[in-house]
Amino acid sequence: MSAAEKNPTPTEKEPKKGKYDPRNKLNDLTSSEWIPETISVWNQKGLGAKHPDVKIEKQHPAPFSFTDVARLIRFFTKQGQTVLDPFLGVGSTLKACALEGRNGVGIELNEKYVDLSHERLDVELDDIFAREYEQTILHGDSRLVVEDLDENSIDFVVTSPPYWNILHKEDHKVNQERKSSNLDTRYSDSEHDLGNIDDYEVFLEELAKILGKCGRVLKPQKYMAVVVSDFRDKSKYIMFHADLARALEPFKLEMRGLKVLYQRHKRIFPYGYPYAYVPNIHNQYILILQNAKK
Ligand SMILES: C[S@@+](CC[C@H](N)C(=O)[O-])C[C@H]1O[C@@H](n2cnc3c(N)ncnc32)[C@H](O)[C@@H]1O
Repeated sequence: MSAAEKNPTPTEKEPKKGKYDPRNKLNDLTSSEWIPETISVWNQKGLGAKHPDVKIEKQHPAPFSFTDVARLIRFFTKQGQTVLDPFLGVGSTLKACALEGRNGVGIELNEKYVDLSHERLDVELDDIFAREYEQTILHGDSRLVVEDLDENSIDFVVTSPPYWNILHKEDHKVNQERKSSNLDTRYSDSEHDLGNIDDYEVFLEELAKILGKCGRVLKPQKYMAVVVSDFRDKSKYIMFHADLARALEPFKLEMRGLKVLYQRHKRIFPYGYPYAYVPNIHNQYILILQNAKK
């Protein structure tokens, strides 16, 4: 079975409909492919727990779905362009790049996830087309590694950063289950890991600085998509998506839209019942930012 057959993406399933406008400088989509993608709510689309290709993905505590990333990549780039993910994890963005015919660059701090990303590209991509484009995995702290990349060399940045230190919350029920299956429940013990910063304001500042540095390598007027989730800190609800959007303003990364990614497959827990309102947070947000630098 080819990689494309194992991992069908929406464009592979449907024949191209509508007209391609030669003025389109952003992507390879026709009018009827473009317009529905601007709807502000998407359903998250994963492979499902039983798919053979979730074996590597599962070893990471918080991967995003490569099919959702592929959808963003198809909208914000043309074939052959270059995508950057400064928080690569187990390589979902590079898998999506390979399948969509884009070059990818990913940066990851934890060596274990760097190795798993290499393995994932080797094992899960057996399609010749998927190997035509270059996927580069860089090991290290994004704060430093992004500085080595050339200015204006990237067409699109897509990433999902640590959501502060929420993986440290011992009472998180999913964490307890992962622990009993011997799976990672946090990214690393490194002091360079953004997921290990205790102070929320310091964390936001550090994250904004890294994404700001990505703005230097991102071409002018090109886009950045950041997948995040709001979260609870004890009983307080933290609007991480809004805090991050504000923290990015000084870096000339301007908000152009917000997508709600509905995670309809998530389990529901009886948080708070029968005393208080405690949400089951079943959506992520995708911040769509544009590089306003000249
Ligand atoms: C939410 S996960 C990304 C998951 C990824 N989207 C995937 O599908 O596998 C965030 C990642 O950022 C990495 N990370 C944390 N601090 C970092 C830093 N300073 N530089 C580079 N990577 C870092 C963590 O090790 C973790 O793998």
